[in-house]
Amino acid sequence: MFEYKWLFKTSPITALYMVKISWWGGVQMGPPDPILGVTEAFKRDTNPKKMNLGVGAYRDDKGKPFVLSCVRKAEALIAAKQLDKEYLPIGGLGDFTKACAQLALGANNEVLSSGRNITVQTISGTGSLRIGANFLSRFHGGSRDVYLPKPSWGNHTPIFRDAGMQLKAYRYYDPSTCGFDFRGALEDISKIPEQSVILLHACAHNPTGVDPKQEQWKEISDIVKKRNLLVFFDMAYQGFASGDIDRDAWAVRYFIEQGHNILLSQSFAKNMGLYGERVGGFTVVCKDIEESKRVESQLKILIRPIYSNPPMNGARIATTILNTPELRLLWLEEVHGMANRIIKMREQLVAGLKKSGSSHNWQHVIDQIGMFCFTGLKPEQVERLTKEFSVYMTKDGRISMAGISSGNVGYLAEGIHAVTK
Ligand SMILES: Cc1ncc(COP(=O)(O)O)c(C=O)c1O
Repeated sequence: MFEYKWLFKTSPITALYMVKISWWGGVQMGPPDPILGVTEAFKRDTNPKKMNLGVGAYRDDKGKPFVLSCVRKAEALIAAKQLDKEYLPIGGLGDFTKACAQLALGANNEVLSSGRNITVQTISGTGSLRIGANFLSRFHGGSRDVYLPKPSWGNHTPIFRDAGMQLKAYRYYDPSTCGFDFRGALEDISKIPEQSVILLHACAHNPTGVDPKQEQWKEISDIVKKRNLLVFFDMAYQGFASGDIDRDAWAVRYFIEQGHNILLSQSFAKNMGLYGERVGGFTVVCKDIEESKRVESQLKILIRPIYSNPPMNGARIATTILNTPELRLLWLEEVHGMANRIIKMREQLVAGLKKSGSSHNWQHVIDQIGMFCFTGLKPEQVERLTKEFSVYMTKDGRISMAGISSGNVGYLAEGIHAVTK
């Protein structure tokens, strides 16, 4: 305890020294977050035509944040029940984890009927990945290497690194086609040392918007099996990519069918628009029910000293939507609506580029899928677009398609054409 009385008895110089004492003189200023930094710059811009295409959050066609009606209705049902606010169990709301695993794996999946999965509720997708990374760090007997696609979501690296894993990469994106480097990926994966961890984006790859086709997934599965790699699927966009929850979960279900005992991270941020509610799930598919019980016990031991138990509100909303037939139906329509709006924006952007006189091939903008588009713009072109048109995006040329509306797609097309002529 700090004693003021004692301070006044010391000489003025000692007192001055004492109040200025610093424990953190060695802490250096860190760089700003690359995506949140874009938003900060956007906020300062006074141009009425400014566009923020940096952040990955859905906007409606008027550019406004969108709360799904199924969410509003679920909230009303929950409020009417006057439920208590007791702690959830360490692994989260039981009805939620069950519905969450069913959504990803399909309700009739053998893994669920034989009880060989353990699914815990997590703090959205990021929290799920981090629990998974901590679990690997503590229990994976194989290599500490985690192979990420090149490029991958920016947060993957610090999530795994801070958990004590080592990051490696396999080829994924081909800048010459703005598409999937299938041959490069297969070649690199075939050289990954056995028992390493490979991270795969289940659908709507972030940041590139480039996904393997089903035939390509099959070959990836074969080679991953040959190399005896542990697969960690990150599924942050189920339903949001194609508008169809089953189609978007195809790769996850196929890998399980092929005998891969995967790890799986899920997020409800995008597909239910529950960004700030932080709802997610982490699943480990095990050999049998006995193994899943042991894994469950250790996941609880891992989670308890980090956040004790997860928040309940978002999990209640997601569960109510998934388990109430009318709300589930409404949700499926709304997810479809969000995905379709994005697909429409891709088409309108390309049409606008053609109308502006651009002779480049922009087909990749249409072919890519999900929230993001890797435009292929070079850093200097991105810089000009920001400076001259007040269009904000990350330096790698990634744009959030969800930030484009029918009111500003023409303006964006003109801007992109002007800096790529
Ligand atoms: C690939 C990927 N994984 C995980 C996440 C996690 O998001 P959240 O923690 O908001 O669920 C995101 C969000 O942008 C993402 O793009």
